[in-house]
Amino acid sequence: MVLTSKEIDAYESDGYFVQHNALSQDAVEHLLSCTMDFQTQTHPGHVLEKDGKTHRAFHGCHLYDDTYNELIRAPQFLIPAQQLLHDNVYIHQLKVNVKQAFSGEMWPWHQDYIYWRNEDNIPTANIVSVMIFLDDIDEFNGPLFFIPGSHTIGCVDASKAADAPKGWEGNVSASLTYQIDAPLVTRLVKKGGLFSATGKKGTAVWFHGNLVHASPPNISPHNRRIVILTYNAVSNIPTTQPQNLRPEFLNGRDYRPLVTQDAGQLAQPA
Ligand code: SIN
Ligand code: MN
Repeated sequence: MVLTSKEIDAYESDGYFVQHNALSQDAVEHLLSCTMDFQTQTHPGHVLEKDGKTHRAFHGCHLYDDTYNELIRAPQFLIPAQQLLHDNVYIHQLKVNVKQAFSGEMWPWHQDYIYWRNEDNIPTANIVSVMIFLDDIDEFNGPLFFIPGSHTIGCVDASKAADAPKGWEGNVSASLTYQIDAPLVTRLVKKGGLFSATGKKGTAVWFHGNLVHASPPNISPHNRRIVILTYNAVSNIPTTQPQNLRPEFLNGRDYRPLVTQDAGQLAQPA
């Protein structure tokens, strides 16, 4: 549960590393059964694909669901987050991206930290995400692509995409607000290559807020459901609030340091 120096070195040099068997198959099934219930509920943090009917993402589930509230305190995620950020942490963002079979849309090339900097006033990139696989993910069902080492360029001042929806909806859409352009992606890939985040359900992948990433649409018959927890250091909370404050399901405001909780049904396999 405590990260090895090899994992920390990989995070620093590549901007990501893989944590195998972070959740047991039973824990994944338990999370999935809660998540599927969300499909029948309405909530402001639930987002649809462009077709206006397929669920794309559920945001801020820890704010209304006990299992997700337990997940953010599970030692296998909370302890590495504290280790990577060298501080106590809280949740800035939690989302389930469901990228459904046949209809899940793409995520264009981008960095995450620019959203947290420009929209939420998070002062530095000392913020980390962990993506947890709720399905087996392969090359067919829309895995994330990372450009190894791309976090070392820092936060790129991307201008707002003209075709992105206005307001926070553009931050979660297949037409994203801040994107990395093709010439820069080409240069970064020439240097760092590409990594495709595939693996068994229960796998977790940690990644830096400035790592350049994207994912293709899911035209396969298999869902690609993932949870992304974003932990921020308590020393990195906004010192002023933006004029257009995003909803709490995108911009966490409970800055109390999280304390580990016996993970119960979410315990890591031995
Ligand atoms: C993200 O970049 O935040 C999510 C991408 C994905 O779900 O494929
Ligand atoms: Mn992202």
